[in-house]
Amino acid sequence: MKILLTGASGFVGSHILDSLCARGLATVLLLRPTSNKQFIASHLPDVELRSGSIGDPESLRQAMAGITHVIHCAGATRASRVSGFYEVNQGGTRNVVAAVNGQAGRVQRLVHISSLAAAGPALPEAPAREDAPPHPISEYGKSKLAGELEVSNHCQAAYVILRPPAVYGPRDAEFLRLFKAVKNHVLPKPGTAQTLSLVFVKDLAEAVVTCLQHPAAAGKTYFVAARETVTARRMADEIAAQMKVWTVPLPLPTALLWPICLAQEVMSRLTGKPSVLGLQKFAELRAPGWVCDPTRLEQETGYACATTLKPGITAALAWYRQQHWL
Ligand SMILES: NC(=O)c1ccc[n+]([C@@H]2O[C@H](COP(=O)([O-])OP(=O)(O)OC[C@H]3O[C@@H](n4cnc5c(N)ncnc54)[C@H](OP(=O)(O)O)[C@@H]3O)[C@@H](O)[C@H]2O)c1
Repeated sequence: MKILLTGASGFVGSHILDSLCARGLATVLLLRPTSNKQFIASHLPDVELRSGSIGDPESLRQAMAGITHVIHCAGATRASRVSGFYEVNQGGTRNVVAAVNGQAGRVQRLVHISSLAAAGPALPEAPAREDAPPHPISEYGKSKLAGELEVSNHCQAAYVILRPPAVYGPRDAEFLRLFKAVKNHVLPKPGTAQTLSLVFVKDLAEAVVTCLQHPAAAGKTYFVAARETVTARRMADEIAAQMKVWTVPLPLPTALLWPICLAQEVMSRLTGKPSVLGLQKFAELRAPGWVCDPTRLEQETGYACATTLKPGITAALAWYRQQHWL
């Protein structure tokens, strides 16, 4: 067994690499010459690096030599232009699938990391389930769905599509903003009290490795999430309690969020640098909920994402402090 992992330099991919290395599985990383190796430095003596990009079919073809399993985690979660999402999340996935198909049956499985955003928003009383028709509301979500279709329509190897909701934990720079706000005594209070599914990053990594070999997973799509659902407010309260800081609520009505997102969109287009908030993000922020049901994964593979918010925040906080990110 020899696994090719894309996106190992990123937040999620680096934890998948931790899980693969903990099991002693032979792993090859597809990295760009520019990829930052800070999260994966400790594994570099034990893994093979192959230089390339999911945007470059020839480099993918060469990286596939001797590979029996592929984990495709590389993706664009932000982009300065809408086309940037599709180039990476659809075009890049198309190239990965073509490279797998080019191996004439030697690749036994492709695990593809998609997102709840591909399925679209859902409320706690009717959580997203795998059989429901997808209805993504952002270009990110639409591009992730387009990537899923590249896999399900064209992949000749057994594949598994995983749809995590928002991921949090050590090395995450997105929820770090919430930790920083709380540290500065600010408790953001969004106008829409969205209910969210979450997944702790190490649970997601274990789910990926489970799906790499589990016979029941072949050809399936799974939501990978903890059963517990939260609101941003509940998350901020938990962070404040663990950091032992007092906070002042900062109301963020939707009417205020829109101009903030618009300003970031304009800045992003002017500078060419992807921003966290933009008009795409606004669509996701104003959705009533992002809740999914992990029952199918649990029943068919026996794997459940067991980390609840409290220990998940404890682990993230410890890492942020250790790395002086907070
Ligand atoms: N974070 C979340 O909350 C979340 C939730 C649901 C789904 N996901 C999915 O999980 C995956 C990883 O997300 P993440 O949060 O870990 O993002 P991240 O930290 O930004 O990492 C993205 C990874 O993709 C690689 N990549 C991007 N474009 C590439 C290209 N053209 N060729 C090769 N590699 C490329 C990056 O490599 P470089 O280092 O070279 O840039 C990096 O390793 C994505 O598919 C995302 O859609 C994430």
